[in-house]
Amino acid sequence: MANDLNARDSKLVQYLNEAYGKEKELEAALQAHIKMAASRATYRKRLQDHLKETKAQAKGLERRIRQLGGKAEAANLPGPEVVSGAASKATAAATKAMAVAKAPVHALRGTGEAEKLLKNAKTELWNEHEEIGNYLSIETLATAVGDRDTAKLAREFRKQEERMAAFLQKLIPQLTKAVVTEEVPPAERRAASNGSGTRSRPAKRSSSSRAKPAKRSSSSRAKPAKRASSSRAKPAKRASSSRAKPASSRAKPGKARAKPAKSRAAASRRSTARAS
Ligand SMILES: [Fe+2]
Repeated sequence: MANDLNARDSKLVQYLNEAYGKEKELEAALQAHIKMAASRATYRKRLQDHLKETKAQAKGLERRIRQLGGKAEAANLPGPEVVSGAASKATAAATKAMAVAKAPVHALRGTGEAEKLLKNAKTELWNEHEEIGNYLSIETLATAVGDRDTAKLAREFRKQEERMAAFLQKLIPQLTKAVVTEEVPPAERRAASNGSGTRSRPAKRSSSSRAKPAKRSSSSRAKPAKRASSSRAKPAKRASSSRAKPASSRAKPGKARAKPAKSRAAASRRSTARAS
């Protein structure tokens, strides 16, 4: 039956299956991360909530795949065997096994408890962005081929992933600070900003390098200031003379031509006087 899918539905089922495979993989990863986040109640709660979302997304994808005449398979490899439902059980089992195998690896990584959580959060953020990409492409594909139901489903799931990604982006700096608290002694945190170990050398370099630009900047500031004041004065004179001209030209139109000539001569006299 699934073999009879047309090109449109085959492509939809293929993309939905890719997203389904990712959701199934993340179910296992999230469960492992929840166990490791016992010390952080808010983070742990958010992971639990997202695990529920993830399971619901997998079910939603499975349902939509069936409605389109396909079969949900937790395999990321696209191809006709996935679409037709003929994907081997071995492939699906391998995907799940891989996800489960990652959990103990995640428990081992990191130099301390805080860093372990940080590494988990970074992995989660990476996964959320992959999912956002999955759902964005599904929504676009579905819209392009007139499948409103699939487009709506993908849009809804993408927003859930985006909310999780936003949470993680706020969490990662907090977890990084926790690593600093846990692993870097307070004295070294202060020294880090001034330079440590090679304290005297960097300090001298930085002070001398600061002094030089300061001199340059003060002299370079003085020059533009002079330029600016002289350049401001000239337009001001031009503006006042140019304003006077129309006023006189209105009062005596006949003499208006003579006055500009005088004012130009006066201006040239002034400029020669300045030059001398
Ligand atoms: Fe998800």
